[in-house]
Amino acid sequence: MVEPLRVCVTGAAGQIAYSLLYSLANGDVFGKAQPITLLLLDIPPMMQCVEGVVLELQDCSLPLLHDAIATSDPNVAFENIDVALLVGAMPRKEGMERSDLLKANAKIFEAQGKALDTYAKKTVKVLVVGNPANTNCLIAQRCAPSIPKENFSCLTRLDQNRAVSQVAMRLGVKTNVVKKVIIWGNHSSTQYPDVNHATVEINGHINPVKEAVKDDHWLEGDFLKVVQTRGAAIIKARKLSSAMSAAKAICDHMKTWWFGTADDDYCSMGVVSDGSYGIPEGIVYSFPLTIDSTHTYKIVQGLEINEFSREKMDISAVELCQERDDAFSFIQIQ
Ligand code: NAI
Repeated sequence: MVEPLRVCVTGAAGQIAYSLLYSLANGDVFGKAQPITLLLLDIPPMMQCVEGVVLELQDCSLPLLHDAIATSDPNVAFENIDVALLVGAMPRKEGMERSDLLKANAKIFEAQGKALDTYAKKTVKVLVVGNPANTNCLIAQRCAPSIPKENFSCLTRLDQNRAVSQVAMRLGVKTNVVKKVIIWGNHSSTQYPDVNHATVEINGHINPVKEAVKDDHWLEGDFLKVVQTRGAAIIKARKLSSAMSAAKAICDHMKTWWFGTADDDYCSMGVVSDGSYGIPEGIVYSFPLTIDSTHTYKIVQGLEINEFSREKMDISAVELCQERDDAFSFIQIQ
C-alpha cells in the first residue's frame, strides 16, 4: 500500500478550508493513487466546528482519506507532516491598526515556524495562505532554520488565475490556452500582473498576448486594476472574502509544486528571493517559476523587463521590505 501523505491544514474551521478539504481528500491535488491523512488545526474555541468538519469528511466516503484528525495543538498537527497548508490567520477586526494585525500574525507564524522546525519532516512543503501571506511565510521560514528555505512558499496563484481569466474573457478564449502570465511581488494591491511574456493559442497558432489583445491602454490600466483590487471587489459583493476561488488556487499551487509545470508554462509563487531581477535577497516575493517532477523550482531567468514593469516590481519590493522590517520588530529572529 502507498504510505498516506500527511497534510496539515490550519484554519480548518474557516471558509477556505471548508472549500478545500474535499478536493484534498478526493485526490484532486496529490493524485488518485495517493492516500492522505488530514491533520486539521484551529484554535481551541473552534474545535467543535472542526470536529463537525471531520464528521462531514467521513460522510463523504472517500477511499483516499486514510484519517482526519482535529487538533488545536500545533505539535500534533505538524508531527511528521509532508505538506503544511497554513491557511489560518488573525483576521483584521474593527478598529485594528495595520501594525496590530502584522504583530498578531507575526506571533502566530513565529510559533508555527518553530513547531514546523521541531515536528515536521525536513522535506515538508509549506504553503502560506493567511494574510499578509508573503510576510507570514517569511517569518515561518526564518523560524524553521532546519528546513530548506526553498520548501516555503506563499499563495499568489489566485492572482495568477484572476489575471489569466481576465485575458481569456477579453479574447473570448478558454483559460487553458493562456500561458505564462506572471504575478510579481506581494499578494496585495501592489502586486504586478505581467502579460509581457504571456502567450495565447488562437486557431492553433501561439501568439503573444500583447499582440492578441492589441490594447496596451487596457493592459496597463483596467486589467491591472481589476486583478489588483479583485479581493476587495469580492468582499464588497459577497460580504465575505474569496473562499471557493482561493481554495481552487491552493489546489492549483500544490498540484503544480507536486507534479511540475508544463513545458510551455510558468507558475507564480511567492518564494524566498535569491536576488533575481534585482529583488532584495531574502524577502518572500512572487516570481515566475518552472518546477520539475521532484518538486524543485527554478526562478525563470533572462526575461526582459521594460521600464513600466521595473517600476511596478520595485514598488511591491519596497512594500515587502517595509512589512518585513515591521514584522521583525515584533518577534525574535535569529
Ligand atoms: P476565516 O476567518 O473563515 O478562517 C480562518 C480560520 O483560521 C478561523 O477558523 C480561525 O479560528 C483560524 N485561526 C486563527 N488563528 C489560528 C491559529 N493560530 N492557528 C490555527 N488556526 C487559526 O478565513 P478564511 O476566509 O478561511 O481565510 C483565511 C486566510 O486566508 C485569511 O488570512 C485571508 O486573508 C487569507 N486569504 C489569502 C488569499 C491569498 O491569495 N493569499 C486569498 C484569500 C484569503
